[in-house]
Amino acid sequence: MTAAARRIESTLAPHARRLDSARIADLVAADAGRPRDFALRIGGLYASFARQRFDRDARDALVGLGEAASLPQAFRALFDGVTVNTSENRPALHVALRSALSETAIARDANRQAAAARARMAELVAQLQASEVTDIVNVGIGGSDLGPRLVVDALKDFGTGRYRVHFLTNVDGSDAQHLLAGLDPSKTAAILVSKTFSTQETLLNGAVVRDWLGGSERLYAVSANVPRAEAFGVAPERVLPMWDWVGGRYSLWSAVGFSIALAVGMDGFEALLAGAADMDAHALHAPVAANLPLLHALTAVWNRNALGLATHAVLPYDERLALLPAYLQQLVMESLGKSVTPDGQPVGIDTVPVLWGGPGTNSQHSFFQALHQGTQTVPADFIGVVTPAHPYADNHAALLSNLLAQTEALANGYSADDPQKSYPGNRPSTLLLLDRLEPRSLGALIALYEHSVYAQSVLWGINAFDQWGVELGKRIAGELLPAVQGNDVAVSDPVTRALLEEIRAHR
Ligand code: F6P
Repeated sequence: MTAAARRIESTLAPHARRLDSARIADLVAADAGRPRDFALRIGGLYASFARQRFDRDARDALVGLGEAASLPQAFRALFDGVTVNTSENRPALHVALRSALSETAIARDANRQAAAARARMAELVAQLQASEVTDIVNVGIGGSDLGPRLVVDALKDFGTGRYRVHFLTNVDGSDAQHLLAGLDPSKTAAILVSKTFSTQETLLNGAVVRDWLGGSERLYAVSANVPRAEAFGVAPERVLPMWDWVGGRYSLWSAVGFSIALAVGMDGFEALLAGAADMDAHALHAPVAANLPLLHALTAVWNRNALGLATHAVLPYDERLALLPAYLQQLVMESLGKSVTPDGQPVGIDTVPVLWGGPGTNSQHSFFQALHQGTQTVPADFIGVVTPAHPYADNHAALLSNLLAQTEALANGYSADDPQKSYPGNRPSTLLLLDRLEPRSLGALIALYEHSVYAQSVLWGINAFDQWGVELGKRIAGELLPAVQGNDVAVSDPVTRALLEEIRAHR
């Protein structure tokens, strides 16, 4: 077991034992100050941890754990551009895309490069604005898709209305077929977004779109590999840069967010960055006990390691945040889905939970049954918005009352004579409330999750910024491609061989 794992275990185990049979409802009843003292507000974002299954002593121990794990120093290192991504020998300077909170040469240089790229992006936004283009197609996958897609969808109330923005992602050709069938190539611009410019899905879809456009006039790219983008046929003046010091899943703040800037304008994009910068300053400077991302991370570690809960649900009560669970699946599970430390030691303690979820109230009518009465306890983040951007006050009141009711029901449960109609309760949740969903608050919310993920990685002693786990499948797919295409190549795995025969027999 690593020192990090030992620290977690020795800090949390006594409290976990002490609170073994504790009930959230009793903890709340015994502590009148809890609703207030287990909550904090950062600008337009309020967070309550009052329905977590820990008491003041355990919460203090968690804060002590954060301090003992040197979380504040780890954040300073992140912002200063220290090589936190050791397996790829890089810093992770996504924060420099929106904040200037470090004086180091590397962070300053990143600030300069980010500002220059933003200025070029603004020029391209203005050029497109003056063109005949009505539709934008963002071609990308993973971090080159999920962040921009989430933000464009979440900020539809702030859209300029100038374009329809589409996302082409899956290597499944039906994705391209159905999207392109509804578009006019003479009025469409495509942005090929790929940090590496070597991702199979994006290269294949990019080629489909390039050919469909019939020229490169309205073909744009965002990449850290500019020569490859140019070799693909994108004119140099339409290639925006990315850098190896920004991880794909942390990149929506860079030119990877070109589609966001087109959807909400440069002002909206800058406001999104300003919101993330608010959270950056808070994460870097607030003491652990009053630091929202750090408390969020410590709560995650409590639920994973002290309570042994293996999954985590994200439940936005706002349709505009419907894509948040999908976005967080990559951010959280690609970052924290590790079981060894950077020096190759088994962590020796559970790390990432399986993250899943969906918007309320829809999901109340699908999987909430299992949340209330299933055999597994699933901790959840509920996310609500106080003031809506629509005029339907009755709908919004119903939405908010459902949000409040669900967190209460999950925590408190209900005993009936009929066990089938009883609810065990004691199911922990965190409530995040945005005053409004707008570019600035959305930027802060996403940055909150980014920083929570980094803090969890520090607590567990793992690298949040690499993703070696995705490589093996890619390599085998590359090796199998000739066989799937019907070539006579040796396939060593007997099961795969039989499956290929089945596919060939039924084509
Ligand atoms: O395969 C996983 C991954 O590398 C993600 O980390 C990344 O966001 C995605 O693929 C897309 O990569 P790229 O932007 O280089 O096309």
